[in-house]
Amino acid sequence: MGTYNIAVIKGDGIGPDIVEQAEKVIAKIGEKFGHIFNMTEALAGGAAIDAVGEALPKNTIDVCKNSDAVLLGAVGGPKWDGLAGNKRPESALLGIRKQLGLYANLRPAIMHKALSNSSPIKQEIIGDNLDILVVRELTGGIYFGEKGYREGPYGEEAYDVERYSPMEIERIVRIAFDAAMKRNKKLTSVDKANVLESSRLWRKTVIEIAKEYPEVELDHMYVDNAAMQLVRNPKHFDVIVTSNMFGDILSDEASQITGSIGMLPSASLGEGAFGMYEPIHGSAPDIAGMNIANPLATILSISMMFKYSFGLEAEAKTVEDAVTKVLDKGIRTVDIAEEGQASIGTKEMGEAVCAEI
Ligand code: IPM
Ligand code: MG
Repeated sequence: MGTYNIAVIKGDGIGPDIVEQAEKVIAKIGEKFGHIFNMTEALAGGAAIDAVGEALPKNTIDVCKNSDAVLLGAVGGPKWDGLAGNKRPESALLGIRKQLGLYANLRPAIMHKALSNSSPIKQEIIGDNLDILVVRELTGGIYFGEKGYREGPYGEEAYDVERYSPMEIERIVRIAFDAAMKRNKKLTSVDKANVLESSRLWRKTVIEIAKEYPEVELDHMYVDNAAMQLVRNPKHFDVIVTSNMFGDILSDEASQITGSIGMLPSASLGEGAFGMYEPIHGSAPDIAGMNIANPLATILSISMMFKYSFGLEAEAKTVEDAVTKVLDKGIRTVDIAEEGQASIGTKEMGEAVCAEI
């Protein structure tokens, strides 16, 4: 029996729809295992811009810092698209990651057997137990490099700098090797070392760190090839480690291979147990409030929270198993329903998972 403090940031678009279902699951686990989960809501993204005039109020950072973990829905939407880069809802997400030192983003792309028909990849290529872990660097690279406008050869130009220091590469690569050691001991480092200096440093650093992990089979892939291999031979991959932007792109691709982006959770970690947990999908403003969004990515993110921030393995497994049971029963939101298969709403899916706990 423990007490855990969770900062809850619902955010924009479908954020509130899906987070409310995850909160139900947290409450249900609390009941079943006798834990107390204190949830404190905080504002970020467009919702914060509308309420208090800035995307990431200081109070939100304080609430996060005073919590054991953060649960986040999604941020952004067309309403705020006209704002300058550093005022946009997305800047709140980047700000939280950076200010809380959450440099390691774990994005497991697991195919649930019951959903194998939802994959756009042929069954014989994908198999029935695809399980890839994308380890994405989250507080460096082009997302956080110098950016702006300047005078260039063709007049004014915009620029964003991709930059990495050895320390930033080393720490994320160690996380990936450690993860590989607990899995199938295969690591693919993805870079663009044939063109980018920062990627050459990346590759050199990976090769150095690899000496500490002689049991792990390591390979290197250029990002263009990795994008292709993910659809050509996804079974090649166990753990992928890559930079912030390549990880952003490849994790969306990996998610779709497993059936639906609505299924993929993530954990963002730094030093220590504190972490932020969110679905990898966005705020889908076109379906916000319609009770059709798939809450399973957020619910599975809770499972990651239990495991990584609270060390509650049995509770984590209970959530995962509940999701599997729901899927095995053929219960579907519209994004994962096959043609002719009935679908239920966001709330009903949240309740269906709770019923299995
Ligand atoms: C993600 C998202 C974010 C990112 C956006 C919303 C800033 O795409 O978490 O993958 O690019 O990191
Ligand atoms: Mg993304």
